[in-house]
Amino acid sequence: MNLLFTKLFDDTKKKDILFYVHWEITDSCNYKCPHCYLPKKQKYVDIEYAEDFITELKNSNVFSVTLSGGEPLLHPHFSEIYIGLKKAGIIVDIITNASLINNSIVDLFKKYPPKILKISLYGTNNDNYKATTAGGNFDRFDSNIQLLKKNNINFIFQFSLTTLTYPFLDEYEDYCRKYEVSYNIGTMLRPMIDGNLENLNTRLPAQTIIDYNSSQPDQILKWKNTIDEACDSNCLNCSAGKNYITINAYGDISVCVPLRNPSFKLENPKMLSTVMEDIRKFRLEMEETYSRSECANCELSALCNCCPAHSYLETGNNLKCVDYLREINQEKFKLIFKNYS
Ligand SMILES: C[S@@+](CC[C@H](N)C(=O)[O-])C[C@H]1O[C@@H](n2cnc3c(N)ncnc32)[C@H](O)[C@@H]1O
Ligand code: SF4
Ligand code: SF4
Repeated sequence: MNLLFTKLFDDTKKKDILFYVHWEITDSCNYKCPHCYLPKKQKYVDIEYAEDFITELKNSNVFSVTLSGGEPLLHPHFSEIYIGLKKAGIIVDIITNASLINNSIVDLFKKYPPKILKISLYGTNNDNYKATTAGGNFDRFDSNIQLLKKNNINFIFQFSLTTLTYPFLDEYEDYCRKYEVSYNIGTMLRPMIDGNLENLNTRLPAQTIIDYNSSQPDQILKWKNTIDEACDSNCLNCSAGKNYITINAYGDISVCVPLRNPSFKLENPKMLSTVMEDIRKFRLEMEETYSRSECANCELSALCNCCPAHSYLETGNNLKCVDYLREINQEKFKLIFKNYS
């Protein structure tokens, strides 16, 4: 299914087809992770709005939706929203901290399996879990993981490398292996979506990220291949606002998860195609802006995961280089040169 998804997503990149929606059904959360990009409030998407939105997604032939938040399982109508999407024939992923998994959620996932249940792993014992989540309970998390395993519900773990997780990296990997669950490690911590940089206090020094990355098997060769295969750096390669959008619990649509300014209000879900016209106009403006940015003219851009959204959030200017990323990518370049010249 993942190969098919990637192939279909790649095909839609050539056209203006809305393929994938990241849906924050609430901005509320029971954790207060210091690394989190999302300012917390208490909004839950209205169930009537959600039902109409799902109908519109179906009518628009949207292929896939990720349910996220905040904590999506906190939504009082999570099950109805989830079942509504499944019955509409839409492929659903869920990102959750798993703190609210219980027997009825397990029964729901047995009857309607998600494409991927992505569980954020925030610790391996009570102390480090509490620090990473500012108050979460590891024992409860661990017993929920056992409940999922006992019921053969498929899931993967994911976690980001931060000052709070990195010291326990071996324990994190052991925990994943103990449950025989595959895992993804994120190395790039993004600023908060409102431009607050406070969460970057938990970001690791650039050199630590380089040391970690370059210790991974074949990583330097992969970087070299990325450069060899890179297309024109002058073009914006992501599909934000073209084939993919983010919508929050207030009905505000933006081109991607990090970039919320501008956002376009979807008052009435039936107006999705009209709002998509505004989104696409903004996407074209983004492409034009990008062609004038420092990134578009940078020899490191093929290696760097920077984009106008990241530049905007971190520097206040979507045309500017992010020093932290430059530091990381210059080091990658040196390592490629040292190993392959
Ligand atoms: C915002 S959370 C929402 C879903 C759920 N509450 C959870 O934690 O899994 C979605 C994912 O984004 C990750 N995340 C949060 N803040 C981040 C940041 N600043 N940079 C990169 N990933 C981040 C979380 O760890 C989580 O895996
Ligand atoms: S559990 Fe998820 S949404 Fe909640 S604070 Fe942590 S990262 Fe943010
Ligand atoms: S963020 Fe800096 S290093 Fe990265 S592509 Fe842009 S200009 Fe280059």
